[in-house]
Amino acid sequence: MKTPRSVRDADVGGKRVLVRADLNVPLENGRVADDTRIRAALPTLRLLLERRASHVRVCSHLGRPKGEDPEYRIDPVRDQLRSLLDDDRIHVLENTRFDPRDTANDVGFARELADGCDLYVNDAFGSAHRAHSSTEAVAHLLPAYAGLLLLEELEHLGRLLGEVDRPFVLVAGGAKVEDKLGVLSHLGARADAVLIGGKMAEELREENQLPFEAMLPTDVVAAAAFEPNAETRVTPFDELPESWLGLDIGPVSRERFAGEIRGAKTVFWNGPMGVFEWPRFAEGTKTVAAAVAAVDGYTVVGGGDSVRAVNELGLEDGISWVSTGGGASLELLEGKDLPGVAAIPSS
Ligand code: 3PG
Repeated sequence: MKTPRSVRDADVGGKRVLVRADLNVPLENGRVADDTRIRAALPTLRLLLERRASHVRVCSHLGRPKGEDPEYRIDPVRDQLRSLLDDDRIHVLENTRFDPRDTANDVGFARELADGCDLYVNDAFGSAHRAHSSTEAVAHLLPAYAGLLLLEELEHLGRLLGEVDRPFVLVAGGAKVEDKLGVLSHLGARADAVLIGGKMAEELREENQLPFEAMLPTDVVAAAAFEPNAETRVTPFDELPESWLGLDIGPVSRERFAGEIRGAKTVFWNGPMGVFEWPRFAEGTKTVAAAVAAVDGYTVVGGGDSVRAVNELGLEDGISWVSTGGGASLELLEGKDLPGVAAIPSS
């Protein structure tokens, strides 16, 4: 993929700058549960302020709201950003997805976002695989540049695109299954082992088809209901009782997965192994996180939930690159052009 031109090369002094960041952070009880993505947006914002931009208009989506759902108001994100970087020149717009035109890549909405601005900086690596008004259409309306995070992500993930030290182990889990399957079936061919846990494993088992060679859990922590304190039992994966849910990979699978990871020289991990935010279903994700952090090689963790798990366990120093992109990093690794990147002129 070509390298987009950098915000460092933009003349921003006295200019009004529109920044698309990916501030789509996990929320819990109306608060930001993990602010990694907000912190990751700071270097570009600081650069713009230091170089005397007169106005920095920041926009992002948050979650996948259907219309103006108050649960997805940007307020907690805005507050958290202000607590980290308080400057009167920064203005955070409301959740771009409150307007359905954003995901439709509507030019009219892009014009509204860009209105009054002189430059556009896309720093939303996590959303670069989306051709939306705020990531794509708007880049054709203003002189467009890549933010520092976007560039850093492209550089680090790019290391996985060429020759990698082997074994290369790919670990996938989490939700958004429909988004990830196609990508995984392509990527699976490049990896020496593909380990699948979480909701993705469950859906693959239900569909009874595996479009690529992969290791699924053999046992799971099953719960009678989708509740943190539900009755649980460990069962073989293919004997999950009717109406029970596998909410974590079981102890045997944890050891198998960790064993594969320990032997790796390159690891890419996207998506938790279970509902790790509930302590009784966190062991699979913890075991995988610890195994990845212990690898002596190049390790990349991507995706909001996996990153949150790594941070909560204090393992971030053991990971070579903690990516802010989930689906975006998967698509990049698949070799696809990311629309949010492609729309920015090359350097
Ligand atoms: C992500 O969390 O992967 C990005 O913020 C993109 O979110 P989306 O999958 O809802 O477009």
